[in-house]
Amino acid sequence: MVRTTVSVIKADVGSVAGHYKPHQKMLDLAKRMLAEAQETGLVKSFYVYSIGDDIGLVITHHKGEENAEIHGLAWNIFKEVTEKISKPLKLYAAGQDLLSDAFSGNIRGLGPGVAELEFEERGSDPVIVFAADKTEPGAWNLPLYKIFADPFNTAGLVIDPRLRSGFIFEVLDMIEGKEVRIKTPEESYDLLALIGTTGRYCISKVYRAEDNEPAAAASTSRLSLIAGKYVGKDDPVLIVRAQAGFPAVGEILAPFAIPHLVAGWMRGSHNGPLMPVSFRKHAVISYFDGPPRVIAMGWQVSNGELVGIDGTEPADLFDDPFWDYSRNIASQIAIYMRTMGEIMPARLDPTEMEYTTLPQVLKKLESRFRKTRSLEVGVP
Ligand code: 13P
Ligand code: 13P
Ligand code: MG
Ligand code: MG
Repeated sequence: MVRTTVSVIKADVGSVAGHYKPHQKMLDLAKRMLAEAQETGLVKSFYVYSIGDDIGLVITHHKGEENAEIHGLAWNIFKEVTEKISKPLKLYAAGQDLLSDAFSGNIRGLGPGVAELEFEERGSDPVIVFAADKTEPGAWNLPLYKIFADPFNTAGLVIDPRLRSGFIFEVLDMIEGKEVRIKTPEESYDLLALIGTTGRYCISKVYRAEDNEPAAAASTSRLSLIAGKYVGKDDPVLIVRAQAGFPAVGEILAPFAIPHLVAGWMRGSHNGPLMPVSFRKHAVISYFDGPPRVIAMGWQVSNGELVGIDGTEPADLFDDPFWDYSRNIASQIAIYMRTMGEIMPARLDPTEMEYTTLPQVLKKLESRFRKTRSLEVGVP
């Protein structure tokens, strides 16, 4: 049986009206280049989307994960789009996420985000791709826990025998570059202890415990950690397989109903609510460059190809009046968070901020700092 790989590779290589949205010509060039790769047989099917100022390439193929030809294709697309469109049109932050020129077979570590899932197709294989703008990979920690480990979210954990053996979470320590596999439900508390630290630990993969079948894959790049300085925000993607032995589509969407706070809003330096939106209508940002957004695209993966509602055009899973309620809550939280201005936790911890004037402020005040006589402070 042939195995199919779904690769989602994304980057911010420039946008219109600040960090708002890519230019249509950028998406058109990416589509043309993918269509050429389809002619050669490298790519089985593809879809190009945008969320905020990021462009995403969803590619199905039979080359497996971490494949040099697929990664090379995505890298060339982002380079060409930057050189042929973003730079000549003087789009904002042209080539923002292309941090290095040293492509040598793997796009990981060069800036673009990557999520890949290789699997043997079931009789019918629904797949959801989530993409977010103005946030970081740790934004998926809460929804992934709810989807695969919380029986109050996912009824299937209780009532579907195929889900009862639980799931294995692969957790990446993004600072130390280590990973660990944690099994739920037995080790749920250990998992939560790690993934609560969203800036450091993120879930990279989820497997069904019973047979180690891959269930989800997330992008894990932290641009600031790669670049050694603060650049654009990571704006992660996530692939989740649904139904028939996995959580149902509705169980996978449910955690987004109450928007949780994520890091990365405005100048990559603020916490804000993750607002679920239609990717056709509202995959843009506005209020205070946000609030952070998430879109959900649904397909069937059939014989190596993406099957949407019309060709490869996916189902727009947050395009439903139900989510107006969630969007309303997100707007209220966003406005509430802004009442705090630059005071934590509305503003991020200085180590997490994209911009920080703190060193300059400290330098300016250096001569005015006096040793305190207080007995209540720590001794260094
Ligand atoms: P500038 O510093 O280029 O104005 O960008 C601010 C911003 O939106 C980037 O995070
Ligand atoms: P991106 O990381 O999406 O480019 O946004 C930059 C930003 O911080 C805008 O306020
Ligand atoms: Mg940008
Ligand atoms: Mg972005």
